[in-house]
Amino acid sequence: MNFLYCFYRYNYLFYLYYSYFSVRLAMAAKIIAVVNQKGGVGKTTITMQVAGALGKRSHKVLVIDSDPQATAVRWASSASDETPFPASVIDLSATGSKLPREARKFVDDYDYIVIDCPPAAESAAPQSALLIADIGLIPVIPSPPDLWGSVGIRQVIERMAAVNDLLQSRIVVNQCQPNTSLAREAIEILPEYGIPVAASILHQRTAYRQAAVFGGTVHDLGYKAAAAIKEVDALVDEVISCLR
Ligand SMILES: Nc1ncnc2c1ncn2[C@@H]1O[C@H](COP(=O)(O)OP(=O)(O)OP(=O)(O)O)[C@@H](O)[C@H]1O
Ligand SMILES: [Mg+2]
Repeated sequence: MNFLYCFYRYNYLFYLYYSYFSVRLAMAAKIIAVVNQKGGVGKTTITMQVAGALGKRSHKVLVIDSDPQATAVRWASSASDETPFPASVIDLSATGSKLPREARKFVDDYDYIVIDCPPAAESAAPQSALLIADIGLIPVIPSPPDLWGSVGIRQVIERMAAVNDLLQSRIVVNQCQPNTSLAREAIEILPEYGIPVAASILHQRTAYRQAAVFGGTVHDLGYKAAAAIKEVDALVDEVISCLR
């Protein structure tokens, strides 16, 4: 029974992937999926900061909000008419496993597509996003309970990487408080996850919360947010170099 279930599940994933393979070859946009089953770790924050920073570098960027909470959509709609969010944002949270088919409609029109996923692992949205992604970013908060809550996403990444051979992945440390021994110890054990850890770390800063309130990125806050701008730019540079 178990064997049959696995057999059909894998065949279905292969079918889904290869039915989109011809699309992948023609794809212009690089696809970044931001995933973690743990809630509140910074998926939407990283989606919007990375997408917005890419948009500010004159790339054409689409954010796909695959989370029914629609936080990314609300974030962009908080922006003023004078300073709109520098990427398009659409709600595809109702598409579930049809996300690859829907995303296909946009791949020729954008340089980057960033998919914000709901806090789930074994659900259609993150699995579909990882099926078509070039890179999966996994935000984690460096504290033991947050790390325990993030363990399950590793199996999903491994399963999707077995089907999507273009998929890379990076853990992104978020809300880091470097002066605490807890954070230091948590960062030390991260390599045990078996997923490469991004060199760029985002620290806990009010700039990230402020950017969400006015619907922009930390870049809009100017010199007050210099440290946040620097770390977001470093993360974007790192993601771009992975995708080359
Ligand atoms: N580096 C940071 N510094 C300070 N606050 C942060 C940082 N990253 C995220 N936050 C705040 O933490 C909260 C949760 O972040 P966010 O909504 O991005 O997480 P999420 O993983 O998308 O949550 P969910 O699982 O509910 O979708 C938000 O209030 C956000 O502003
Ligand atoms: Mg979110």
